[in-house]
Amino acid sequence: MLKTKDILDEKDKRLHEISKEVVFPLTETDKKAIHDMIEYLHDSQIEELAEKRDLRPGMGMAAIQLGIKKRYFVVVNEITEENDTEQKFETYIIVNPTIVSHSEEEICADAGEGCLSVNRETEGYVRRYARVKVSGYDMDGNKIVVRAREELAIAFQHEIDHLNGILFTDKLTFNIDGIRTI
Ligand code: NI
Repeated sequence: MLKTKDILDEKDKRLHEISKEVVFPLTETDKKAIHDMIEYLHDSQIEELAEKRDLRPGMGMAAIQLGIKKRYFVVVNEITEENDTEQKFETYIIVNPTIVSHSEEEICADAGEGCLSVNRETEGYVRRYARVKVSGYDMDGNKIVVRAREELAIAFQHEIDHLNGILFTDKLTFNIDGIRTI
């Protein structure tokens, strides 16, 4: 099981390197990493498990955050609705992702963004596209296209930035005039 200390800290130079395209098939190491990332992200969003395992809550993780310089990420998005008796999640695993199109509209997370590699309070906002269409591959190498909006769109853009060696702290701004906050 992945522990919080297994995740690279922002001071680690590898987080500023550009990850490499994945050549299929995925290695066993990659498959295990993906499994561990899903488990971590899922459990970290369930208060009881997060406390028990001392996990920092997060919805996304890129391979490079585990020191694996390959272009893939996992997002575990909570989709719990009012009437649900337990928390529900949807999982995205995208290998070699590309943003193929995006809205003109920009948004930013009202509370600012967070990152499992940035273990401190930050000030400012990150401008993101409100909607993105991302293409890539699933774990078996099948082509996939995913459309995302709002919070999920922010998560995808944040994770793709990781693959290009960019942290959200590199993009912090207070210039959000006319930008919708969510
Ligand atoms: Ni991050």
